Amino acid sequence: MKPRKITDDVYFVGAPDWDRRYFDSLIPLPQGTSYNAYLIKGEHKTALIDTVDPSKWEMLDAYLSSVNSLDYVIVQHVEQDHSGSLPMVLQKYPEATVITNAKAKELLLSHLHVPEDRITVIKDGDSVDLGGLRLLFILTPWVHWPETMVTYLPERQVLFTCDFFGSHLATSDLFVLEEKLVYQGAKRYYAEIMSPFRGLIRTHLGKVRKLDLRLIAPSHGPVYSNPEFILSAYEEWSSEMPKNVVLIPWVSMHGSTQAMVDFLTYELVELGLNVDRFDVSTADLGELTMATVDAATIILASPTTLTGPHPAAEMAAYWIGALRPKARSFGIIGSYGWGTRMVDVIKGLWSSVNAEFLEPILVKGYPTEADFNKLAELARTIAQKHMEMGLM
Ligand code: FEO
Repeated sequence: MKPRKITDDVYFVGAPDWDRRYFDSLIPLPQGTSYNAYLIKGEHKTALIDTVDPSKWEMLDAYLSSVNSLDYVIVQHVEQDHSGSLPMVLQKYPEATVITNAKAKELLLSHLHVPEDRITVIKDGDSVDLGGLRLLFILTPWVHWPETMVTYLPERQVLFTCDFFGSHLATSDLFVLEEKLVYQGAKRYYAEIMSPFRGLIRTHLGKVRKLDLRLIAPSHGPVYSNPEFILSAYEEWSSEMPKNVVLIPWVSMHGSTQAMVDFLTYELVELGLNVDRFDVSTADLGELTMATVDAATIILASPTTLTGPHPAAEMAAYWIGALRPKARSFGIIGSYGWGTRMVDVIKGLWSSVNAEFLEPILVKGYPTEADFNKLAELARTIAQKHMEMGLM
Protein backbone atom coordinates (compact mmCIF):
# COMPACT_ATOMS: atom_id res chain seq x y z
CA MET A 1 0.00 0.00 0.00
CA LYS A 2 1.22 3.49 -0.83
CA PRO A 3 0.96 6.29 1.74
CA ARG A 4 -1.90 8.62 0.76
CA LYS A 5 -0.85 12.22 0.12
CA ILE A 6 -2.84 14.91 1.93
CA THR A 7 -0.51 17.77 0.93
CA ASP A 8 3.11 18.12 -0.22
CA ASP A 9 5.39 15.89 1.91
CA VAL A 10 2.52 14.84 4.21
CA TYR A 11 0.86 11.42 3.91
CA PHE A 12 -1.97 9.56 5.61
CA VAL A 13 -0.93 6.09 6.83
CA GLY A 14 -3.82 5.36 9.21
CA ALA A 15 -6.57 2.78 9.46
CA PRO A 16 -10.35 3.06 9.33
CA ASP A 17 -12.06 0.65 11.74
CA TRP A 18 -15.32 0.02 9.90
CA ASP A 19 -16.49 -2.77 12.19
CA ARG A 20 -15.80 -1.45 15.68
CA ARG A 21 -19.09 -0.98 17.46
CA TYR A 22 -18.05 0.30 20.91
CA PHE A 23 -15.41 2.74 22.08
CA ASP A 24 -13.98 2.25 25.55
CA SER A 25 -16.40 -0.72 25.79
CA LEU A 26 -18.97 1.99 26.50
CA ILE A 27 -19.95 4.37 23.70
CA PRO A 28 -21.62 2.90 20.56
CA LEU A 29 -19.93 3.70 17.24
CA PRO A 30 -22.71 3.77 14.63
CA GLN A 31 -20.25 5.10 12.03
CA GLY A 32 -17.18 3.13 13.18
CA THR A 33 -14.00 5.10 13.83
CA SER A 34 -10.42 5.39 12.59
CA TYR A 35 -6.89 5.63 13.96
CA ASN A 36 -4.90 8.08 11.86
CA ALA A 37 -1.14 8.24 11.59
CA TYR A 38 0.74 10.66 9.34
CA LEU A 39 4.10 10.43 7.62
CA ILE A 40 6.08 13.66 7.09
CA LYS A 41 8.99 13.56 4.66
CA GLY A 42 11.53 16.37 5.05
CA GLU A 43 14.63 16.82 2.91
CA HIS A 44 16.78 15.01 5.50
CA LYS A 45 14.50 13.35 8.02
CA THR A 46 11.25 11.41 8.06
CA ALA A 47 8.78 11.46 10.94
CA LEU A 48 5.69 9.45 11.81
CA ILE A 49 3.02 11.24 13.84
CA ASP A 50 1.15 8.79 16.10
CA THR A 51 0.61 5.11 15.28
CA VAL A 52 -2.61 3.07 15.20
CA ASP A 53 -4.59 0.76 17.47
CA PRO A 54 -2.64 -2.51 17.71
CA SER A 55 -5.56 -4.35 16.08
CA LYS A 56 -4.75 -2.38 12.90
CA TRP A 57 -0.95 -2.70 12.95
CA GLU A 58 -0.95 -4.74 9.75
CA MET A 59 -2.44 -1.78 7.87
CA LEU A 60 0.14 0.68 9.18
CA ASP A 61 2.87 -1.87 8.45
CA ALA A 62 1.63 -2.16 4.87
CA TYR A 63 1.65 1.62 4.41
CA LEU A 64 5.21 1.73 5.76
CA SER A 65 6.45 -1.01 3.42
CA SER A 66 7.99 1.61 1.09
CA VAL A 67 9.57 3.57 3.97
CA ASN A 68 13.13 2.30 4.33
CA SER A 69 14.11 4.34 7.35
CA LEU A 70 12.36 6.41 9.95
CA ASP A 71 14.02 9.06 12.11
CA TYR A 72 11.27 10.12 14.50
CA VAL A 73 8.00 8.86 15.90
CA ILE A 74 6.02 11.73 17.43
CA VAL A 75 3.78 10.49 20.24
CA GLN A 76 1.05 13.05 20.83
CA HIS A 77 -1.01 10.88 23.20
CA VAL A 78 -0.24 7.60 24.96
CA GLU A 79 -3.72 6.05 24.93
CA GLN A 80 -3.38 2.76 23.10
CA ASP A 81 -5.65 3.55 20.13
CA HIS A 82 -2.79 5.83 19.01
CA SER A 83 0.32 4.44 20.66
CA GLY A 84 -0.53 0.73 20.73
CA SER A 85 1.51 -0.05 17.59
CA LEU A 86 4.53 1.95 18.78
CA PRO A 87 6.47 -1.14 19.97
CA MET A 88 6.06 -2.71 16.51
CA VAL A 89 7.17 0.52 14.79
CA LEU A 90 10.24 0.73 17.02
CA GLN A 91 11.10 -2.88 16.27
CA LYS A 92 10.70 -2.28 12.53
CA TYR A 93 12.89 0.85 12.69
CA PRO A 94 15.65 0.35 15.30
CA GLU A 95 17.12 3.73 14.34
CA ALA A 96 13.93 5.68 15.13
CA THR A 97 13.70 8.01 18.14
CA VAL A 98 10.44 8.67 19.98
CA ILE A 99 9.79 12.36 20.47
CA THR A 100 7.29 13.31 23.12
CA ASN A 101 6.82 15.34 26.33
CA ALA A 102 7.90 14.44 29.86
CA LYS A 103 4.47 13.29 31.06
CA ALA A 104 3.99 11.16 27.96
CA LYS A 105 7.41 9.60 28.50
CA GLU A 106 6.38 8.52 31.99
CA LEU A 107 3.18 6.99 30.58
CA LEU A 108 5.00 5.28 27.69
CA LEU A 109 7.31 3.57 30.17
CA SER A 110 4.42 2.26 32.25
CA HIS A 111 1.86 1.51 29.53
CA LEU A 112 4.03 0.17 26.70
CA HIS A 113 7.39 -0.55 28.35
CA VAL A 114 9.18 1.48 25.67
CA PRO A 115 12.97 1.43 26.30
CA GLU A 116 13.82 4.73 28.00
CA ASP A 117 16.87 5.34 25.80
CA ARG A 118 14.64 5.49 22.72
CA ILE A 119 12.73 8.54 24.00
CA THR A 120 13.69 12.21 23.55
CA VAL A 121 11.70 14.66 25.64
CA ILE A 122 10.55 18.00 24.26
CA LYS A 123 8.96 21.00 25.97
CA ASP A 124 6.14 23.29 24.91
CA GLY A 125 7.30 25.37 21.94
CA ASP A 126 10.21 23.10 20.98
CA SER A 127 10.60 21.97 17.38
CA VAL A 128 12.51 19.46 15.26
CA ASP A 129 13.94 20.18 11.83
CA LEU A 130 13.26 17.61 9.11
CA GLY A 131 15.05 19.63 6.44
CA GLY A 132 12.85 22.29 4.87
CA LEU A 133 10.07 21.35 7.26
CA ARG A 134 9.74 21.90 11.01
CA LEU A 135 7.53 20.17 13.50
CA LEU A 136 6.54 22.55 16.30
CA PHE A 137 5.13 21.02 19.49
CA ILE A 138 2.35 22.66 21.49
CA LEU A 139 1.38 21.05 24.79
CA THR A 140 -2.39 20.78 25.25
CA PRO A 141 -2.82 18.88 28.54
CA TRP A 142 -6.15 17.24 29.42
CA VAL A 143 -7.42 16.74 25.90
CA HIS A 144 -8.19 14.33 27.55
CA TRP A 145 -5.14 12.86 29.31
CA PRO A 146 -2.46 14.89 31.11
CA GLU A 147 0.17 14.36 28.39
CA THR A 148 -1.79 15.33 25.26
CA MET A 149 -0.11 17.63 22.75
CA VAL A 150 -0.49 18.80 19.15
CA THR A 151 2.08 19.27 16.38
CA TYR A 152 2.20 22.17 13.91
CA LEU A 153 3.85 22.03 10.50
CA PRO A 154 4.17 25.76 9.69
CA GLU A 155 5.59 25.29 6.18
CA ARG A 156 2.37 23.51 5.15
CA GLN A 157 0.00 25.15 7.68
CA VAL A 158 -1.11 21.76 8.95
CA LEU A 159 -1.97 21.05 12.60
CA PHE A 160 -1.90 17.43 13.80
CA THR A 161 -4.18 17.12 16.81
CA CYS A 162 -4.70 13.46 17.77
CA ASP A 163 -7.98 13.22 19.80
CA PHE A 164 -8.53 17.02 19.71
CA PHE A 165 -11.08 17.65 16.89
CA GLY A 166 -11.27 13.90 16.14
CA SER A 167 -14.45 12.27 14.91
CA HIS A 168 -15.74 8.73 15.17
CA LEU A 169 -16.13 8.01 11.47
CA ALA A 170 -14.71 5.21 9.36
CA THR A 171 -14.43 6.44 5.79
CA SER A 172 -12.27 5.98 2.72
CA ASP A 173 -12.32 9.77 2.26
CA LEU A 174 -9.16 11.56 3.32
CA PHE A 175 -10.97 14.88 3.80
CA VAL A 176 -14.29 15.91 5.31
CA LEU A 177 -16.87 15.84 2.53
CA GLU A 178 -20.11 15.81 4.52
CA GLU A 179 -19.81 18.21 7.43
CA LYS A 180 -23.14 17.12 8.97
CA LEU A 181 -21.94 13.53 9.19
CA VAL A 182 -18.60 14.48 10.70
CA TYR A 183 -20.29 16.90 13.12
CA GLN A 184 -22.13 13.99 14.73
CA GLY A 185 -19.02 11.81 14.97
CA ALA A 186 -16.92 14.67 16.35
CA LYS A 187 -19.55 15.68 18.91
CA ARG A 188 -19.88 12.05 20.02
CA TYR A 189 -16.14 11.93 20.74
CA TYR A 190 -15.93 15.40 22.30
CA ALA A 191 -18.88 14.66 24.59
CA GLU A 192 -17.43 11.44 25.94
CA ILE A 193 -13.84 12.38 26.62
CA MET A 194 -13.36 16.13 26.40
CA SER A 195 -16.50 17.83 27.71
CA PRO A 196 -15.45 17.47 31.39
CA PHE A 197 -12.28 19.46 30.55
CA ARG A 198 -14.04 22.20 28.57
CA GLY A 199 -12.30 25.05 30.45
CA LEU A 200 -8.92 23.81 29.25
CA ILE A 201 -10.36 23.06 25.82
CA ARG A 202 -11.27 26.74 25.53
CA THR A 203 -7.70 27.70 26.50
CA HIS A 204 -6.24 25.37 23.89
CA LEU A 205 -8.68 26.63 21.25
CA GLY A 206 -7.26 30.09 21.88
CA LYS A 207 -3.75 28.78 21.07
CA VAL A 208 -4.97 27.05 17.91
CA ARG A 209 -6.76 30.20 16.75
CA LYS A 210 -3.41 32.02 16.63
CA LEU A 211 -1.98 29.59 14.04
CA ASP A 212 -2.23 29.98 10.27
CA LEU A 213 -4.19 26.86 9.38
CA ARG A 214 -5.00 25.25 6.08
CA LEU A 215 -5.59 21.72 7.36
CA ILE A 216 -6.41 20.13 10.71
CA ALA A 217 -5.38 16.48 10.73
CA PRO A 218 -6.81 14.62 13.75
CA SER A 219 -6.09 11.00 14.65
CA HIS A 220 -9.75 9.96 14.38
CA GLY A 221 -11.91 10.70 11.33
CA PRO A 222 -11.16 12.64 8.16
CA VAL A 223 -8.90 15.70 7.72
CA TYR A 224 -10.51 19.15 7.90
CA SER A 225 -9.77 21.30 4.85
CA ASN A 226 -12.17 23.85 6.34
CA PRO A 227 -10.72 24.24 9.87
CA GLU A 228 -13.32 26.88 10.73
CA PHE A 229 -16.06 24.22 10.69
CA ILE A 230 -14.61 22.22 13.57
CA LEU A 231 -13.13 25.20 15.44
CA SER A 232 -16.49 26.93 15.65
CA ALA A 233 -18.22 23.67 16.63
CA TYR A 234 -15.72 23.20 19.48
CA GLU A 235 -16.19 26.80 20.59
CA GLU A 236 -19.94 26.21 20.83
CA TRP A 237 -19.64 22.86 22.63
CA SER A 238 -17.04 24.04 25.13
CA SER A 239 -18.91 27.26 25.96
CA GLU A 240 -20.45 27.42 29.44
CA MET A 241 -23.68 28.72 27.94
CA PRO A 242 -26.22 25.88 27.58
CA LYS A 243 -29.15 25.76 25.16
CA ASN A 244 -32.87 25.85 25.84
CA VAL A 245 -32.91 22.07 26.30
CA VAL A 246 -34.19 19.88 29.13
CA LEU A 247 -32.54 16.48 29.11
CA ILE A 248 -34.66 13.69 30.61
CA PRO A 249 -32.88 10.36 31.03
CA TRP A 250 -35.66 8.03 32.16
CA VAL A 251 -36.68 4.44 32.69
CA SER A 252 -39.98 2.91 33.79
CA MET A 253 -41.01 -0.57 34.93
CA HIS A 254 -44.83 -0.47 35.15
CA GLY A 255 -45.67 2.85 33.50
CA SER A 256 -45.97 5.16 36.53
CA THR A 257 -42.63 6.91 35.98
CA GLN A 258 -43.29 7.04 32.23
CA ALA A 259 -46.64 8.78 32.90
CA MET A 260 -44.73 11.41 34.89
CA VAL A 261 -42.14 11.82 32.12
CA ASP A 262 -44.81 12.07 29.42
CA PHE A 263 -46.69 14.72 31.39
CA LEU A 264 -43.56 16.74 32.20
CA THR A 265 -42.44 16.57 28.57
CA TYR A 266 -45.82 17.86 27.39
CA GLU A 267 -45.78 20.73 29.89
CA LEU A 268 -42.21 21.75 29.03
CA VAL A 269 -42.91 21.74 25.29
CA GLU A 270 -46.09 23.77 25.88
CA LEU A 271 -43.97 26.35 27.68
CA GLY A 272 -41.55 26.61 24.74
CA LEU A 273 -38.68 24.41 25.97
CA ASN A 274 -36.95 21.74 23.92
CA VAL A 275 -36.85 18.26 25.44
CA ASP A 276 -34.30 15.50 24.79
CA ARG A 277 -35.58 12.18 26.20
CA PHE A 278 -33.72 8.90 26.46
CA ASP A 279 -35.07 5.62 27.81
CA VAL A 280 -31.81 4.62 29.48
CA SER A 281 -32.71 0.93 29.48
CA THR A 282 -32.25 0.91 25.69
CA ALA A 283 -30.70 4.26 24.69
CA ASP A 284 -27.47 4.76 22.76
CA LEU A 285 -25.24 6.10 25.55
CA GLY A 286 -23.38 8.20 22.98
CA GLU A 287 -26.60 10.07 22.07
CA LEU A 288 -27.33 10.69 25.75
CA THR A 289 -23.76 11.90 26.28
CA MET A 290 -24.01 14.28 23.32
CA ALA A 291 -27.23 15.71 24.78
CA THR A 292 -25.40 16.62 28.00
CA VAL A 293 -23.26 19.05 25.96
CA ASP A 294 -26.28 21.29 25.32
CA ALA A 295 -28.78 20.81 28.16
CA ALA A 296 -29.51 23.63 30.60
CA THR A 297 -31.55 21.33 32.86
CA ILE A 298 -31.29 17.60 33.54
CA ILE A 299 -34.19 15.69 35.13
CA LEU A 300 -33.50 12.05 35.93
CA ALA A 301 -36.65 9.92 36.09
CA SER A 302 -36.61 6.46 37.62
CA PRO A 303 -38.74 3.96 39.46
CA THR A 304 -37.41 2.48 42.70
CA THR A 305 -35.81 -0.95 42.47
CA LEU A 306 -34.84 -2.66 45.76
CA THR A 307 -35.03 0.78 47.45
CA GLY A 308 -32.56 2.46 45.07
CA PRO A 309 -32.90 3.85 41.56
CA HIS A 310 -33.38 1.42 38.68
CA PRO A 311 -29.84 0.19 37.79
CA ALA A 312 -30.09 1.73 34.30
CA ALA A 313 -30.93 5.11 35.86
CA GLU A 314 -28.17 4.70 38.44
CA MET A 315 -25.63 4.06 35.68
CA ALA A 316 -26.91 7.13 33.76
CA ALA A 317 -26.70 9.24 36.93
CA TYR A 318 -23.15 8.08 37.60
CA TRP A 319 -22.10 8.81 34.01
CA ILE A 320 -23.74 12.25 33.93
CA GLY A 321 -22.06 13.14 37.23
CA ALA A 322 -18.68 12.06 35.85
CA LEU A 323 -19.16 14.27 32.77
CA ARG A 324 -19.69 17.37 34.95
CA PRO A 325 -22.01 18.93 32.34
CA LYS A 326 -22.73 22.63 32.05
CA ALA A 327 -26.43 22.22 33.00
CA ARG A 328 -27.42 24.73 35.68
CA SER A 329 -30.27 22.72 37.28
CA PHE A 330 -30.65 19.04 38.15
CA GLY A 331 -33.80 17.24 39.29
CA ILE A 332 -35.13 13.79 40.18
CA ILE A 333 -38.63 12.44 39.61
CA GLY A 334 -40.06 8.94 39.81
CA SER A 335 -42.36 6.41 41.39
CA TYR A 336 -41.87 3.82 44.13
CA GLY A 337 -43.84 0.83 45.38
CA TRP A 338 -43.50 0.88 49.16
CA GLY A 339 -40.38 2.82 50.11
CA THR A 340 -37.38 4.54 48.51
CA ARG A 341 -33.97 6.01 49.18
CA MET A 342 -33.49 6.85 45.52
CA VAL A 343 -32.84 10.57 46.03
CA ASP A 344 -29.99 9.93 48.49
CA VAL A 345 -28.35 7.45 46.13
CA ILE A 346 -28.57 9.74 43.09
CA LYS A 347 -27.44 12.83 44.99
CA GLY A 348 -24.43 10.82 46.13
CA LEU A 349 -23.61 10.12 42.49
CA TRP A 350 -23.97 13.83 41.73
CA SER A 351 -21.85 15.03 44.65
CA SER A 352 -19.34 16.73 42.32
CA VAL A 353 -22.03 18.47 40.27
CA ASN A 354 -21.94 22.23 40.68
CA ALA A 355 -25.58 23.08 39.93
CA GLU A 356 -28.87 23.83 41.63
CA PHE A 357 -30.89 20.81 42.78
CA LEU A 358 -34.60 21.20 42.15
CA GLU A 359 -37.10 19.77 44.64
CA PRO A 360 -37.52 16.04 43.83
CA ILE A 361 -40.98 14.69 43.02
CA LEU A 362 -41.44 11.11 44.18
CA VAL A 363 -44.78 9.39 43.94
CA LYS A 364 -46.04 6.27 45.74
CA GLY A 365 -47.61 4.19 42.99
CA TYR A 366 -49.34 5.90 40.05
CA PRO A 367 -49.32 9.74 40.08
CA THR A 368 -52.48 11.50 41.29
CA GLU A 369 -53.85 14.81 40.05
CA ALA A 370 -51.95 16.52 42.87
CA ASP A 371 -48.73 14.85 41.65
CA PHE A 372 -49.34 16.01 38.08
CA ASN A 373 -49.89 19.53 39.42
CA LYS A 374 -46.48 19.34 41.09
CA LEU A 375 -44.95 18.31 37.76
CA ALA A 376 -46.66 21.24 36.04
CA GLU A 377 -45.16 23.53 38.70
CA LEU A 378 -41.74 21.95 38.11
CA ALA A 379 -42.07 22.70 34.37
CA ARG A 380 -42.92 26.34 35.13
CA THR A 381 -39.92 26.60 37.49
CA ILE A 382 -37.59 25.23 34.79
CA ALA A 383 -39.04 27.58 32.17
CA GLN A 384 -38.49 30.54 34.52
CA LYS A 385 -34.86 29.54 35.01
CA HIS A 386 -34.30 29.20 31.26
CA MET A 387 -35.83 32.65 30.76
CA GLU A 388 -33.56 34.12 33.43
CA MET A 389 -30.57 32.63 31.58
CA GLY A 390 -31.76 34.29 28.36
CA LEU A 391 -32.30 30.96 26.63
CA MET A 392 -35.88 31.67 25.54
FE1 FEO B 1 -8.25 8.40 20.69
FE2 FEO B 1 -7.60 9.26 23.98
O1 FEO B 1 -7.59 8.19 22.44
